[in-house]
Amino acid sequence: MMTQRLISHLRYLALSVPNFDEEREFLTTYWGLTEVSTAIADGGRVSYLTAEGSPEPFVVRVREGDKRIDLIAYGALTREDVETLHARLAGEGVEIVHAPRDLDQYGGGYGFRFFDVDGRTIEVSTDVELRENRRIQPREPLPVKLSHVVVNTPDLERTTQWYIDHLDFAISDTLFSARMGDLMHFMRCNNAHHSFAIAQGPHCSLHHASFEMRGVEEWMRGAGKILRSGARMVWGPGRHNAGDNTFAYFLDPAGNTLEYTTELATIDDEDHWHPSKLDVNLVTTQDQWGTANEMSELVARESFNDVDRGLFVAPPV
Ligand SMILES: [Fe+2]
Repeated sequence: MMTQRLISHLRYLALSVPNFDEEREFLTTYWGLTEVSTAIADGGRVSYLTAEGSPEPFVVRVREGDKRIDLIAYGALTREDVETLHARLAGEGVEIVHAPRDLDQYGGGYGFRFFDVDGRTIEVSTDVELRENRRIQPREPLPVKLSHVVVNTPDLERTTQWYIDHLDFAISDTLFSARMGDLMHFMRCNNAHHSFAIAQGPHCSLHHASFEMRGVEEWMRGAGKILRSGARMVWGPGRHNAGDNTFAYFLDPAGNTLEYTTELATIDDEDHWHPSKLDVNLVTTQDQWGTANEMSELVARESFNDVDRGLFVAPPV
């Protein structure tokens, strides 16, 4: 059985970057997203980018400004679910940015925003204007959709418990090392093994955002296209154990890590799912195939990223 949750799925990731033109060029020309709208907010430009395979109006929003996570957005199935969740969070003492209302950005919808325990802005919305998506063709190296977002936090257990208590996320699997303890919790809000993950880091920041490709062939062609663009592959190509998905991580022009993935596991019967603790020091945990560069502390450090300057500061759009 699946647990009934008020959040239905991951909708989009909104980032602010200082080198807006470079980032936009990279995401459209190389990463394979399509710009569907632009706007001006707070003196800076905003670009709405969709994945061709996704019905979401957009899956990434990039704003011109200081480097930060603007927000992470989730969907809900109905207005009642949005209102129920808002009332619940307000009653639980969660700091609300704005109550449910019609959203005036591209794609519209009805939703509200709040801060998570670390101060990231989270949006939950419904009734957005879905777009006509199309089936990604064989060998086409374009993202199908946004797969998952991963954040760093200095207090892994506190942040994880907050998402379990307030948003009904569940831990699917955990990475740990004998020396450092738990390192990452993979979190689900539907039957995807993870739509979100939380990593232990030195500070709050974006760990990586991951985009699903049609299959292994398209994932490999996509990775090759990014390599030829001159972007650096931080880690990959390989297949993780937790989630069973393939991975290839790259640094974008703003210094954020972006991933191409495919074949992420689903958990269709939550009653019979038992989370595993996977030891990162076993080589097969991180890289089943043995094709990726070795995960070292140096490679891990690449995902610490710059301190998120958006904590407890709602974005201007
Ligand atoms: Fe990932």
